[in-house]
Amino acid sequence: HAEWIQTDLVRNSRLRYSQQWTLIADSNNHKNIRTVLPPGPCSPLSGELLSELSPTRGLRAVVRETGSQQLLEIWDRHGLRKSLNLSALNIHGRVYDDIRLPVLVRKHTLISSLLYGDVFVSTQDRSVYCEDWGEALTSKSVPVLCVVDLHHGEIDVLQSVPQDVSPGQALWAPCSQAVFFVGWYHEPFRLGLKFCSNRRSALFRLSLDGHCECISGDNLSVSCPRLSPDGSTLIYLQGSVFGPHNQCLSLDLKSGKTSTMLDVVSRPQTGDFAGVYEALPSHCWSADGEKVVFSSAVRNWKDVFMVDRGTKKVSSLSDNLSDLSKVYGSWKLLTVQRDLMVVCCSSPNSPPTLRVGFLPSADETVTWRTLQQPVTTFDYLWTVLDVTPTSDEDNLRYPGLDFGAILVKPSHLLCETGTPVVVFIHGGPHSQFPVEWNSTTAGLVELGFAVLMVNYRGSTGFGQDSILSLIGQVGSQDVKDVQRAVMAALQNDKTLDPKRLAVIGGSHGGFLSCHLIGQYPDFYRACAARNPVINAATLLGTSDIVDWRYTSAGFQFSYDNIPTAETLAAMLLKSPITHAAQIKAPVLLMLGGKDRRVSPHQGLELYKVLKSRGSPVRLLWFPEDGHSLSRVDTQVDCFLNTVLWLTQHL
Ligand SMILES: *[C@@H]1O[C@H](CO)[C@@H](O)[C@H](O)[C@H]1NC(C)=O
Ligand SMILES: *[C@@H]1O[C@H](CO)[C@@H](O)[C@H](O)[C@H]1NC(C)=O
Ligand SMILES: *[C@@H]1O[C@H](CO)[C@@H](O)[C@H](O)[C@H]1NC(C)=O
Repeated sequence: HAEWIQTDLVRNSRLRYSQQWTLIADSNNHKNIRTVLPPGPCSPLSGELLSELSPTRGLRAVVRETGSQQLLEIWDRHGLRKSLNLSALNIHGRVYDDIRLPVLVRKHTLISSLLYGDVFVSTQDRSVYCEDWGEALTSKSVPVLCVVDLHHGEIDVLQSVPQDVSPGQALWAPCSQAVFFVGWYHEPFRLGLKFCSNRRSALFRLSLDGHCECISGDNLSVSCPRLSPDGSTLIYLQGSVFGPHNQCLSLDLKSGKTSTMLDVVSRPQTGDFAGVYEALPSHCWSADGEKVVFSSAVRNWKDVFMVDRGTKKVSSLSDNLSDLSKVYGSWKLLTVQRDLMVVCCSSPNSPPTLRVGFLPSADETVTWRTLQQPVTTFDYLWTVLDVTPTSDEDNLRYPGLDFGAILVKPSHLLCETGTPVVVFIHGGPHSQFPVEWNSTTAGLVELGFAVLMVNYRGSTGFGQDSILSLIGQVGSQDVKDVQRAVMAALQNDKTLDPKRLAVIGGSHGGFLSCHLIGQYPDFYRACAARNPVINAATLLGTSDIVDWRYTSAGFQFSYDNIPTAETLAAMLLKSPITHAAQIKAPVLLMLGGKDRRVSPHQGLELYKVLKSRGSPVRLLWFPEDGHSLSRVDTQVDCFLNTVLWLTQHL
């Protein structure tokens, strides 16, 4: 059963649909797929916020939204068996689903009273400030864990969660007499969670009789607890608190005592596993409980790995290494159940497709079956560049690091003078451009641009040293890396037109775009930036992740930090605003009015500087959008305006 999301421009929304697949295994070797039957029809899913199959009895639980109401439905093989009107029961606030907090919100005097507009609000509480978990989690403040008793139709809010944590990512312990959950500490104040794997948190075990204990270490960041099929072992990801907002994590194992299954990788060898940088899928154990499967960034790729619990040996399960044509650059594990893996594969010229394969035993390789070829693929050319900084651009504390870039271009030269190049820079900075499908890139290539996506030092997939090398060096090392990659691409490929270059990017990618046009004013002919960081000193007071504002500039963060002239000056000096007077390239700014990560006033600062100097600038303002500018109409507006801007100025 696969669920997909597709953008529908007519309804101006993202539609979800499901599709059913039937695989028939060999009767004498059930780990061999004999036939893949044609898929069932695509059926739209409406209003399903969460859904989960029970491990026994064939039941399916769905939290459904109908208008402003939420219902909990239990379906079995004969239809709807039970339906609870959660809104009418009024025991907790709205149920929400999020990467980090897939739980129920507390019906707490203040919040949910406001939500339901009922009698609990005393007039003196109405204006009291309520903290939340920041960008993309606005008004999510105190989640609660609830247990529904299906027999009696009763909902219980679990009361023994410690007062100083917000619970999430809960799962049943064996026999269902207890739950495991991750608690994020929210004292002395909350810091934004999205894209931050460095928040202090711990793993707890709460038994339904009310006893709650912490079962992980202190002063750590933990996430993604996953229980082995026999219930004896729990694994989870662990990282340090503060420091880089996203980083290489270790995979820890708890079975009685705790041990490390996969450690942080500082310097991966070329071709080797490079560490864990992303969340574990919700099912990641082999049936025998001896292996764990997951996907992660490796240099410019994304791959599927298996780690053996006994030997701690990691192996790649994709056919990338054996097949040098590397059909798919990106492999993401969606699930593994009874040793059948389902992965999503894509490349810059090939939209996502599902593949299945059984976990291999011993030294076998996986036989992957593609469930269905994508409806269309494109003849774009793509290459991966390995870039080495020059000796004067080497990092003295982390010498010898290299990085990468991906070039995607049309298969035919559309213009005599060469192909114009769009340099696309990712945000984070600790994230990655894997060699995968990206509709923005594909759209630009379709329109005749070459797109260069740069994984500058500090991107995920290159080891923890690479990540640490960028701390305190933003605005210089990363800027030089992008410029170095552009030079390397122009040198390698003479079909690219060095006179028609543009830079685009969002967030830290917007910060780098604006740096590049300020530091290399004669090099780039156009720039399009989405919610860029423009002045890190003024951003300090408004960002939901104030810790990262200090860390990125090379300072220690502590909750009680008070800005000093020294820290503010350092932040200012690392910012694109200091180069703004040199900018010649026309700048398109796209800002989300509700961005809590990088305030839209950042972009406005640059807008005013450019406008007052008569430098061409155009500002698009999206009052209802946050940092990701992800509403469907906003995405369309941003893409079309970016293309028009690039076409006009290149
Ligand atoms: C659920 O309860 C709410 C509040 O009582 C009510 O307004 C709504 O109509 C109910 N929804 C359904 C589908 O019964
Ligand atoms: C917590 O860990 C961070 C680094 O991971 C360290 O800088 C900090 O001092 C530690 N805090 C406490 C209270 O131990
Ligand atoms: C394309 O890449 C950008 C920059 O990393 C990212 O923000 C965006 O979500 C990607 N789009 C798709 C469709 O993957």
